Amino acid sequence: MGWRNLTLPLSSLLMALFFCHLRAARGDLSYTVLEETRRQYVIGNIAKDLGLDAQRLSARKAGINTEDSSKRYTDINLSTGDLIVAETIDREMLCGSRMRCMLNYELVLANPLEVHRISLNVEDVNDNAPKFLNERITFEILESALKGQRFRLDEAHDSDIGQNGIKDYSLQKNDNFVLSVNDNMNGRKYAELVLDTEVDREQQKEINLILTAIDGGTPQRSGSAIIHITVLDANDNVPVFTQEVYKVVLAENASLGTEVVTVSAVDADEGANGAVSYEFSRIADNAAQLFMIDKLTGQIKVIGDIDYELETYYEIGIQAKDGSGLASTSNVIIDITDVNDNAPKIIITSLNNHIPENSVLGTEVAIINVQDKDSGDNRQIRCSIQQNVPFKLNPSIKNYFSLVTTNPLDRETEAYYNITITATDGGYPPLSSSKTIHLIVSDVNDNPPVFGEQSYNAYVMENNKPGTSICSVSARDPDWRQNGTVLYSLVPSDVIGVPVSSFISINADTGVIHALRSFDYEQFRNFKVQVVARDNGSPPLSSNVTLNLFITDENDNSPQILYPAPEGKTLMTEMVPKASLSGSLVSKVIAVDADSGQNAWLSYQIVKSTDPGLFTIGLHSGEIRALRDITESDSMKQNLIISVKDNGQPPLSATCSVYLLISDNLAEVPELKDMTYEESNSKLTSYLIIALVSVSTFFLTFIILILAVRFCNRRKPRLLFDGAVAIPSAYLPPNYAEVEGAGTLHSSYNYDTYLTTGSHTSDFKFVTSYNENTLPSTHSLNRIQNQTDPFEENSFTVDLSDSGVSISRCI
Ligand SMILES: *[C@@H]1O[C@H](CO)[C@@H](O)[C@H](O)[C@H]1NC(C)=O
Ligand SMILES: *[C@@H]1O[C@H](CO)[C@@H](O)[C@H](O)[C@H]1NC(C)=O
Ligand SMILES: *[C@@H]1O[C@H](CO)[C@@H](O)[C@H](O)[C@H]1NC(C)=O
Ligand SMILES: *[C@@H]1O[C@H](CO)[C@@H](O)[C@H](O)[C@H]1NC(C)=O
Ligand SMILES: *[C@@H]1O[C@H](CO)[C@@H](O)[C@H](O)[C@H]1NC(C)=O
Repeated sequence: MGWRNLTLPLSSLLMALFFCHLRAARGDLSYTVLEETRRQYVIGNIAKDLGLDAQRLSARKAGINTEDSSKRYTDINLSTGDLIVAETIDREMLCGSRMRCMLNYELVLANPLEVHRISLNVEDVNDNAPKFLNERITFEILESALKGQRFRLDEAHDSDIGQNGIKDYSLQKNDNFVLSVNDNMNGRKYAELVLDTEVDREQQKEINLILTAIDGGTPQRSGSAIIHITVLDANDNVPVFTQEVYKVVLAENASLGTEVVTVSAVDADEGANGAVSYEFSRIADNAAQLFMIDKLTGQIKVIGDIDYELETYYEIGIQAKDGSGLASTSNVIIDITDVNDNAPKIIITSLNNHIPENSVLGTEVAIINVQDKDSGDNRQIRCSIQQNVPFKLNPSIKNYFSLVTTNPLDRETEAYYNITITATDGGYPPLSSSKTIHLIVSDVNDNPPVFGEQSYNAYVMENNKPGTSICSVSARDPDWRQNGTVLYSLVPSDVIGVPVSSFISINADTGVIHALRSFDYEQFRNFKVQVVARDNGSPPLSSNVTLNLFITDENDNSPQILYPAPEGKTLMTEMVPKASLSGSLVSKVIAVDADSGQNAWLSYQIVKSTDPGLFTIGLHSGEIRALRDITESDSMKQNLIISVKDNGQPPLSATCSVYLLISDNLAEVPELKDMTYEESNSKLTSYLIIALVSVSTFFLTFIILILAVRFCNRRKPRLLFDGAVAIPSAYLPPNYAEVEGAGTLHSSYNYDTYLTTGSHTSDFKFVTSYNENTLPSTHSLNRIQNQTDPFEENSFTVDLSDSGVSISRCI
């Protein structure tokens, strides 16, 4: 992964050059506060002092930061702009013996990023009394000591500074000593005991005095120690340090037990008088936690964790004392050096983690502050973010960066970003740290719903039930929640002058389209309607699509016969010339069907005729032609009943009668009454014939069934075959004889009987020859055919040929 690098010091420099006049810290504020001030105390009003609108502080995310992310102690009241004390400040803890105790802050405002420096001077309050390191100061003096001899005393320590520090020492009134108070080279007071009246060992072996140190604060505070003096009578020398000042340099990562320095003092005396012991005569509280001195060897060692970031140098007073209590002092100055022990710190000063997807380029998303407590190269920070995101870090004032957008955002493509900010310092080895911010791209209604298809076609069968669903449309909108919630509706329009909403309706939520009424194909065959998909955003976005609704035909219209005119109206008789030859056109039936396609594809059939062999009708043309030459013997009046049937599922049909008169002369035409009479006569006979045929068919079927049952029971394996399989004669039942072509049998009837039993799923085909009704001649065939009317509703196909007649029937 590539990283975008920015070097802080360089960029800060460049920025200092280029952005100074634009966004520099416009005003530096300085305030003073006493230490130990109660919380909520108002130090000053930042808004007023900077000329900012206090009402806008919240909106601009105003905040107080420390430069090194140490404890803050103060805060800003965003409603008033007041700088208040957030936590009681203890100057001594913060600044120790430093004379100036300054806290530095930055006031950071976003949109646009603005940084102001605020320095807070913490003033000392006399809250610490002077203190002696040892409450009992012991030393010995010689009896022979001369008037005016000086003995240096331990310094008292006061954590307060300036006026509140040590101001004076005083000594309890006594006969022998007076006190001399002087300033040392650092301006600190120290006291010396001056012998005023010589001591007499015989009179006084020991002298006890009280030394008091007072500070200059109000109210004044004091501390005291007891000076215990032993009067000796032997001669003595004072120990002398080898150096006036011991200066050492110590790395802050020095481990416990490390030797800092070994001090030494030389005493000219022999024996106990020359034995020197070492101790700290003056040491600040924080230094006392870190260093110790070996009483005998003078070795100073590390006993605590040294931190350059807390204190960079220590000054410690040391004292060497011989056996008789004669002492001298020196100083140890320890300079701490920095080690790269602090990783850079990344502080998200302000974060706007819901960014609308339509944000303009360069929108400030976050303000980042990087800090490193180390110094020098160890605090040179480079800051970067990963490369494959539409954001970048813009260096801003000092160690501030703003994270801004560089490319347009699209929530529908990427809704979340995890931006990892990495800061690396310039130490060796470098230390780095990183922080991830989660950004959420918030939705804007920027996508209209999009239909799945360019247009929709729906088919609905006519005569549908009102309320049936026809089809459904669907549109997708990738926006979030209501911005992506799609509602469907129909665009108002008219179909044959009627509002489309009275034909169909759409479910607003699901897009399912319902028919509201029954359609009639014969009324209209298709219509178009616009469907709108609209989202629920504000403002809403929408798109529309065309729905083509096709009504499909159902065979709901019977054929209508136009010619000849329907029965009952007029009786029309066609004249047929006597000499008409075979194939000549006699008449034509004309019929129409309101349906379409197969449902209107008509076929014509003669269902009944006076002389069945005489006329035929074209299956689809409806043309009636003579089948053979008309002879004198043919009856003059010929009636045909024609059925016209369409090809729908199921088919619908109509019938008509055609009356033909074979004559060349109109005078020969008999009275029409006769024809109708004969017609009704023939109706009567046909009813009789139908009854007769029904009875005989029933009887025949019954016989066949009985035979079949018997046959099946007797013969095992049973004769169950596929239709294609021929039956060997040996398997035929004994009652049946196979008929061979010649002899008395001219023809045979073949019955194919299909029996379907409920317990079997397949059709059993049972083939046999039936010889009972064998016919002797073609004449009798005609007769039989006349008797057994073949023009029943269930179709018989009659095949006339020389070899005989075969009738196949489907039950
Ligand atoms: C800010 O100051 C107002 C007015 O003095 C006070 O009512 C409010 O409590 C303060 N807010 C905070 C957080 O201290
Ligand atoms: C202190 O830091 C320096 C530089 O980082 C290193 O070389 C040295 O080993 C460290 N010493 C200890 C005692 O860790
Ligand atoms: C972002 O970080 C969170 C948690 O660390 C994780 O669940 C999410 O999958 C991350 N998203 C991306 C886009 O990397
Ligand atoms: C929908 O988009 C609008 C702006 O077009 C936006 O203000 C709103 O927050 C969005 N709603 C949701 C639920 O994201
Ligand atoms: C349908 O969409 C087209 C373009 O897509 C637009 O011009 C037309 O106005 C829309 N019609 C309606 C009724 O919304």
